[in-house]
Amino acid sequence: MIIMERAAMVRVRVPATTANMGPGFDTIGMALKLYNYLEMEEISGGLQIEITGEEDSGDIPRDERNIVYQAAERVFAKTGYRPAGLTIRQEINIPAARGMGSSAAAIVGGLIAANWLSGNKLSADELLHMAVAMEGHPDNVAPAMLGGVVVSALMDEKLFYRYIAPPEDLELVVAVPEFQLSTRVARDILPLNVPVQDAVFNVSRASLLVLALVQKDYELLGQMMDDKLHQPYRLNLVPGMQDVFAAARDNGALAVALSGAGPTLIAFVKDKDKLRDVGDSMRQAFLQAGVTCSIKYLSACPAGAEVELEGEWVTCL
Ligand code: HSE
Repeated sequence: MIIMERAAMVRVRVPATTANMGPGFDTIGMALKLYNYLEMEEISGGLQIEITGEEDSGDIPRDERNIVYQAAERVFAKTGYRPAGLTIRQEINIPAARGMGSSAAAIVGGLIAANWLSGNKLSADELLHMAVAMEGHPDNVAPAMLGGVVVSALMDEKLFYRYIAPPEDLELVVAVPEFQLSTRVARDILPLNVPVQDAVFNVSRASLLVLALVQKDYELLGQMMDDKLHQPYRLNLVPGMQDVFAAARDNGALAVALSGAGPTLIAFVKDKDKLRDVGDSMRQAFLQAGVTCSIKYLSACPAGAEVELEGEWVTCL
């Protein structure tokens, strides 16, 4: 839905995301029903940023370095609409620097809120390209903006992307370690070149994973989430990762993967009776490696970023 009238205040919610889904490195991502909320209001002057929520949210800058603000600035520069001043209120529920799309949520929220204040001059496609330019890769920002599972390919600076309805009948057990891992560190550790057989391994699995998602063939999905392009190189950054993978599978998970760049691990479970066992076993395996984690039970989110209109959350793109 596109609304052309300009508003002085907007409230947006943006879902968390899990990128890669095993073999789909920098390509496949899925939205999760866990939201960051953002209010952006035009005021008579200055910049005020208020942040509440998750413990780590204390580290988020309250000045021009704030990502929501930087995203908003890009929209104002492009639309030519310049508010006299801005209040930004962020309610953070997505743990920061854990591989759950917290920076994507900030970017997407900032772009959408500022576009709303500007009178919705920019299209979803323009906003998504701006988000990818800020984040550097599309697999978190695309599902954060559009919801569901989004498969993307960058061709120079042009993004090709398609939405797939997410597997809402699968449950997701998400083990979030208490330590943060910078995406830059987790990317710097990756090799510049990989053996061709590893590339073939991932191409085959990522291709069939997409078909499994489209056809809701969960047996196939469970067999197609292994990876050789990033997870093996990141093992040392996430103590206990292999043991947590094994524990989740042994207790009934269909598949388990590193969420984004980590350190969060995400298990896909079909049988609801097994959820608690999967969660408890993941927590226990992490503990044995000296890592305390919190377990979240989530589901996939078909909708992306939404704005609040008369008490209802509605898609704005
Ligand atoms: N595809 C990216 C990576 C996601 O794995 O580095 C970062 O959140």
